[in-house]
Amino acid sequence: MAMIRHSCHFLRKQLSPIAASVANHHCWWSNVEMGPPDAILGVTEAFKRDSNPNKLNLGAGAYRDDNGKPYVLPSVIKAEEQIVGMKLDKEYLGITGLPAFTEKAADLAFLPDSDVRKESRNVTVQSISGTGSLRIGANFLAKFLDSKAIWLPTPSWGNHNPIFGHAGLQIKQYRYYDSKTCGFDASGAMEDLNKIPEKSVVLFHACAHNPTGVDPSFENWKEMSAICKSRNLLPYFDMAYQGFASGDTDRDAQAMRYFVSQGHNMLLSQSFAKNMGLYGERVGAFSIVCADKEEAKRVESQVKIIIRPMYSNPPLHGARIASTILSDPALNEQWLTEVKGMADRIISMRSQLRENLANEGSTRNWQHITDQIGMFCYTGLTPENVDRLASEFAVYLTRDGRISVAGVSCGNVGYLARSIHQVTK
Ligand code: LMR
Repeated sequence: MAMIRHSCHFLRKQLSPIAASVANHHCWWSNVEMGPPDAILGVTEAFKRDSNPNKLNLGAGAYRDDNGKPYVLPSVIKAEEQIVGMKLDKEYLGITGLPAFTEKAADLAFLPDSDVRKESRNVTVQSISGTGSLRIGANFLAKFLDSKAIWLPTPSWGNHNPIFGHAGLQIKQYRYYDSKTCGFDASGAMEDLNKIPEKSVVLFHACAHNPTGVDPSFENWKEMSAICKSRNLLPYFDMAYQGFASGDTDRDAQAMRYFVSQGHNMLLSQSFAKNMGLYGERVGAFSIVCADKEEAKRVESQVKIIIRPMYSNPPLHGARIASTILSDPALNEQWLTEVKGMADRIISMRSQLRENLANEGSTRNWQHITDQIGMFCYTGLTPENVDRLASEFAVYLTRDGRISVAGVSCGNVGYLARSIHQVTK
């Protein structure tokens, strides 16, 4: 920073008065410090700068096919063809988005014949993927929640903290991951949840916990639901991977639906980035399950007031794709098969990675690779291991040791296992 100030000063001294006054305007932000790269997206930036032909990007969670290529789902291609053929206009959507999409997104989450849907107790608005959905939720909580605090699992997705923090909420934590077992710290989580002050909000990952890949068992979920009930806590489910964890959209929504069945009101963020591969189209939904229809109407009016100055109304194209897939029975069936295909490929890559590590002669216990679920594996690699993987093997992952298993393929799993073994033996 001192260097920037110095060069501004030096520049002014060399210039005529007019040019110097113009140059002055270039120094408005001399007090702005260089920020650190994003913990997740910064990995992609470092990967792009590397010229090693064997380089591997296992940072950001984006699905790749077995040839390491981005995958556009055939159901998405068909839906797009239908949409283009309809020659629709490009008018603005309403503040809450495309009704055909929000209705179907809510049905996918809660089921069409659920009490919530039949009683019109949900407010569901379109959002700019999962992040945008969480930000609407964060701003709503910051405005209307008395405690102005949210409890996150430790660890949680790297973007949760800034999303809720920037909206003005205080971030608190409850225990979640046990580094000794690489599994769920059930007793720690229950103990902490039991101590959270009443009328607080607790964030849960509905399935495929990011970054750990560790999900509570159904029995654990039941216990957590009971604690939330007895402590009068408001659950907020982040469901970024419905269908992507197990290959079954119902199974992946089971925990969240159980909470609903127990009478919890809640907040829900949905993303269609992973399960439909609509990453850059930014398709998501934000819901609040309310006490009744009348409350839902009031809440919706306030959600609209939050959205309007942020981005006015959401983008059209991706929502049209998702609503087409969710409404057309044949396309819907095809999509469910494709989601399962992606989930199954990831599950099979977990086994192959574990086998390859054993074949390399690694004596470490890698069982958690196959125990964990979803896009990510929390390997237990240290930041030093991660740095060596990048500098010596051009294998890129986040410094917490998280691997995006979606980036592993039959072609690179051997190289990956060899590299991991070299830095951990
Ligand atoms: C991830 O965790 O890698 C993904 O959810 C992508 C992102 O935006 O961080």
